[in-house]
Parts: sequence; structure tokens; C-alpha cells
Amino acid sequence: MSKHENPYPGENNTGHFWDDEQDLRELNNRPPRWYMQSMFVGLIAIVFYSFYFPSIPWFGDHYKGYADENGKTWTMITEMNESVAELEAYREKKFAATEQAIADSSLEDIVRDDELKTYAIKTAKTLFGDNCAACHGAGGQGNAGFPVLADDDWLYGGSLAKISQSITNGRKGNMPARMLGITDAQAAELATFLIETGKGTHGNPNPASKALYMMKGCIGCHGPTLAGNQMLGSANLSDSIYRFEAEDQHASVVRTILHGVNQANNPETQDAVMPAFGHSKVINATQIKKLAVYVHQLGGGDPVKPAPKKIKVSKDGKYNPVVAKSNSFADIVAAAEANYKKNLAQNSAWRDTGKMIKEAKKTKDVALAKKANTQAVNALKQASVALTAGPRF
Ligand code: HEC
Ligand code: HEC
Repeated sequence: MSKHENPYPGENNTGHFWDDEQDLRELNNRPPRWYMQSMFVGLIAIVFYSFYFPSIPWFGDHYKGYADENGKTWTMITEMNESVAELEAYREKKFAATEQAIADSSLEDIVRDDELKTYAIKTAKTLFGDNCAACHGAGGQGNAGFPVLADDDWLYGGSLAKISQSITNGRKGNMPARMLGITDAQAAELATFLIETGKGTHGNPNPASKALYMMKGCIGCHGPTLAGNQMLGSANLSDSIYRFEAEDQHASVVRTILHGVNQANNPETQDAVMPAFGHSKVINATQIKKLAVYVHQLGGGDPVKPAPKKIKVSKDGKYNPVVAKSNSFADIVAAAEANYKKNLAQNSAWRDTGKMIKEAKKTKDVALAKKANTQAVNALKQASVALTAGPRF
């Protein structure tokens, strides 16, 4: 900034110059009229808005204003809530049929129907995030103490029905502490044995420890092959997948053996309680179905068998029997012959129909002609049952 004398003394400037040539300078003019006018309009608007809309907060409350919406004072929150309700109503209407189809279908049928399955999975994702992810992880990948839902190592079973039961009724594993007076040393031995067994061909389980496993009653719940029992939710001990993970897996297994699972009054017991969602008001039965389908496809659900094939009855005219025009012998024979012809075309003729017609014609036997016709009609009905019918002989 230059400190020279003001070269423009008569001018209404502030004396501040911004360049050496002293021609970039600060003037002291009135702001433009349009600028001032907008400012006053703005000020008036502020006063108007402050009175009209809720404003000025005071002790735990605020000025309510005059803006009215259906008799209630307007606030942004009520406006948002109304928009959300409107959206929900729209969604409900739009997806009502699909929701109903989910409610009405069995879990298997939902999985077999691509559209229902996709809908169930998409809507269950949020439900899972809200209700399950805190324990089981966002993608069902599990957390320490909470089982993985995205693999096929199930405590209670990976069929749709079992998964649905787990969610509806909850689960609570039960393993007694210190079975039959196990000592600390025996617990350590068992833990080593289990961990080594879990390593498969790379492990070196001590065969003598297997006797201890049997003697102390572990076999009763975890079975002779250590594979566990899904009826009891007793974990598979042979696969090195640990339900109660820990940095020191050996110590964790020892703890499980000494303090059990879900044992009351044992502060060191392993806690393992899956809440029962069927009895809570948090989610409804349809939502449980969606969640079961969702968990089932996370990675480890038992395969769902294809639906039994429905027998299709052909609508093709080829199978429509010709009806006799009257009860006269000639008409009945004509119908029998026409139907027998269709039988031959379908490869479904009964062996003796042709012979019967010939015989009836020779003897003019009405009863025999009727019998032949009935037989030909039956053969046609049989042939029309697509896929299941073929030549009878
Ligand atoms: C408070 C934590 C918690 C919440 C919330 C929770 N779970 Fe669980 N869940 C568990 C525990 C713990 C177990 C294992 C129970 C046991 O070991 O006996 C389990 C077990 C399961 C099983 C059986 C797994 C198997 O291997 O057989 C399924 C399926 C399951 N949960 C699904 C869900 C779904 C779906 C939700 C949400 C609606 C949910 N869980 C919410 C803790 C939870
Ligand atoms: C009354 C049945 C019962 C008996 C007896 C029993 N267990 Fe268990 N055990 C369970 C159940 C149930 C679980 C799984 C708990 C859960 O996840 O909810 C379990 C879990 C375990 C686990 C944890 C596995 C993991 O994945 O983290 C170990 C280790 C174990 N048992 C070892 C033993 C040993 C060793 C014995 C014998 C001393 C034994 N159990 C006896 C029912 C039993």
C-alpha cells in the first residue's frame, strides 16, 4: 500500500491505494440502490418468516408460528414424517401382492420362485442389518462368540426349516461344566486332542486321549466322530472351525470344557444365546420368512429340491375323444373307429381295441362296440397326460 499524498483530493475516496500507479483505490460511495432495496426486502421477509414459521427457541420449547398443516403447526419434522408415511403407503400398495405371496408360500416355494426369492433377499437385507448384524456381522460372517451364518458349518442345521426355527424360537446351547469331574490336566489334554484332530491329516491326535473323550461323556453330545449333533446344537469338534473363537484357541477350549456353555452361576461359562424373534414384536412372521431365505443363501443353506413336476394335461385336440352322434350301432362304431385312429396316431392304442371293433362290426354287437369305444377313449385320456403316458403295450 502506498503512503503518498492523495492524488485525487476532491474524490470521495478512503485514501487506500492498491498499486504503485495509484489508480486502484477504494472509494466511499453509497451501495447501489438495487442492493439496498433487496436488503430491506430481505429484512422484511425475515420478520415475516419468523412470525409465520416456528422459530425462536426457548426453554425446551420454541415459538410455534402460524403456518398450519391440517390443524397442526407446521414443522419440517412433521413434513418429513408425512412424506415418509406417503412413501411407505405407496410401497405397501405396490408390493402388497408380493408380500402376500411371501406370506402364503412355503419357504421352499419362495426359494424356487426367482421373483419371490429376489424380493425376499432384497428386503431382508435391511432387516438383517437392523436386527442381526450386531451379533452375526453385516454379511453373516460372524463375530467372536456369535456363529458364522455364511458357511455350511451349522450348529442347528442349514435347512430352511431349521434356520427358520433358529430365528423364531431362538437357540441356547447347553454344555455342562467339568463333565464327570474333569481335572485341569485332563481338560488341557482334551483340548490338545481336539485341536490336533481338527488339523486333519496334518494333526497328531493322541489315541489315548480319545478314551478320555469317551469316558468323560463328551461322546454323548459330540458323538463318536466328534461331528456334533444338530439336534443338540453341539458344535462339530472335528473341523477346526471354532464356535468360540479366541486368540489362544487352546485356552478357549479349556475354558469351554471347564466352565461349559450357558451354565448359570458360572461367570466364566461361554455365553451363547440366540434371541427368539418369533415371540418378540420386533419382526413379524413374513419378515422371519424373508430372513430365513436370506440366511439360507448367504453361503451354506442345504440345497432345496426342485418342486415335484405337475402333471400337465394336454389341451391338444389330438387327444379329444370323438363322441358318438347317437346311440345307434353305426354311430357308436364310427366313434370307436375315429378314436381308435387317434390312438394309433398317438401310439397309445390298446392291443385289442382294433380286434373288438372288427368283431363288433361282424356280429353287429352294440355292447361290444360301446366297450371298444370306451377303451379307445380311455387310451386317449391316458395319452393326454403328457410325460407320464406312453404306448401301453
Ligand atoms: C444378541 C445376539 C444375536 C442376535 C441379535 C441374533 N443372533 Fe442369531 N445367534 C446368536 C447366537 C449366540 C447363536 C448361537 C446359539 C448357540 O450357540 O446355541 C445364534 C444362532 C443363530 C442361528 C443358528 C446358527 C447355526 O449354526 O445353526 C441362526 C440361523 C441365527 N442365529 C440367525 C439370526 C438372525 C436371522 C438374526 C436376526 C433376526 C439373529 N440371528 C440375531 C446371537 C444372536
Ligand atoms: C450335554 C451335551 C454336551 C456334552 C456332554 C459336552 N458338550 Fe461340548 N458342547 C455342547 C454344546 C451344545 C456346544 C455348543 C454350544 C453352542 O455353541 O451353543 C458345545 C461346545 C463345545 C466346544 C466349543 C466348540 C467350538 O466350536 O468353539 C468344545 C471345545 C466342546 N464342546 C468340548 C466338549 C468336551 C471336550 C466335552 C466332554 C468333556 C463336551 N464338550 C461335552 C454340548 C455338550
